[in-house]
Amino acid sequence: VTEEGGRPATRAVHAGERQEMPRRPATVPVFQTAPFLFADVADLERAFSDPSLAGLYSRYSNPTVRAVEEKLAALEGAEDAVAFSSGMAALAGIFAALLRSGDLLLASRELYGGTHSLLGWLRERHPEVAVERAPAGELAAAVAAAPRPPALVLVETPSNPLLFCCDLAELAAACRARGDREAAAAGGRRPLLVVDSTFASPVLSTPLALGADLVMHSATKYLGGHSDVTAGLVAGSAERLAPVRQAARLLGGCLDPHAAFLVGRGMKTLVLRVERQSATAARLAAILGGHRRVERVHYPGLDPVGRRQMSAGGGMLSFRLADRAAAAAFLDRLRLFQLVPSLGGVESGAMAPALSSHRGLLPAERQEAGITDGLIRLSVGIEDADDLEGDLLQALEGAA
Ligand SMILES: Cc1ncc(COP(=O)(O)O)c(C=O)c1O
Repeated sequence: VTEEGGRPATRAVHAGERQEMPRRPATVPVFQTAPFLFADVADLERAFSDPSLAGLYSRYSNPTVRAVEEKLAALEGAEDAVAFSSGMAALAGIFAALLRSGDLLLASRELYGGTHSLLGWLRERHPEVAVERAPAGELAAAVAAAPRPPALVLVETPSNPLLFCCDLAELAAACRARGDREAAAAGGRRPLLVVDSTFASPVLSTPLALGADLVMHSATKYLGGHSDVTAGLVAGSAERLAPVRQAARLLGGCLDPHAAFLVGRGMKTLVLRVERQSATAARLAAILGGHRRVERVHYPGLDPVGRRQMSAGGGMLSFRLADRAAAAAFLDRLRLFQLVPSLGGVESGAMAPALSSHRGLLPAERQEAGITDGLIRLSVGIEDADDLEGDLLQALEGAA
């Protein structure tokens, strides 16, 4: 009995499965397979002794996933990148890989709500790791002043949802200086700087060039860009990434090949989308800044650090209306901007963080974090800028 012979049940499984490719396909196909097949035992020996573990098992490595890893590494100017099933899995993988018992993790206070929750969870379940926070603007000083050197420093820039821009060159210098001090004293480790660059995307800023050790993205946002996939990516040097890749393989938060295909396809138009989104967002930020109902606009293009560190202001902005009733009236009147708890897609979206990502905080905690009830976050898409402007202006008329 051969593979394609045999009875119907055998033929149903094996017929047609041996497709050779006469030519290279125009795009990386979806390699929707968990294992890869060994030609013989010598091939098996070769596969297991190859440190890349390519062509073995998709939790270790998969060509469709590898394509997006290489694309991000190329965009970030990094040696390598590792894909995860979500941005949260990427952060969890970084923590699992790089933190040990007794370590200090120093994080900025301005973080995505889910990252806040992950840090809270870490603190509660793993008290052997200390978690401290400092305002992003004071993080460099906190690195210098911490009673012991942090093992990891985590910052999100621009931050979600207030678009705070942290000076990465200054923070990286503070990590290096602290490392030099420790090395001179007791051979201690240099704090590793991890940057969540989801809002900037590699189009607007490349944190590794500014001295960061690892840069991570929720690829669900700008990299995928079409609100149809959940994914995370981390880039850095091969040395820094090796334990992160090991954590990805062991914890199993790997990216599915079909999801990887969508991320890779999205990334091909990343530059075009972000350039267009930035241009429209800059225009909307200026209009909102002059509107009588708007109390304040937060936009990296209006911030000195953002202007220095990013090549354009990006597609995210937030602004303050008077109160919760004004925010609700504004959101309910929007026609083009969708009421959506995500960002970075081709479609424009709006959200009130007090009603969504920061809902779980106490009112005093929200106040401290600057998340007022009237705060609105916009994710500007690639629609016609005049249409988007018209939608905002008509919705603001209702936000009395
Ligand atoms: C800045 C930032 N980091 C991380 C995440 C988490 O990413 P994911 O939803 O892909 O797990 C998000 C999600 O909104 C985010 O905005």
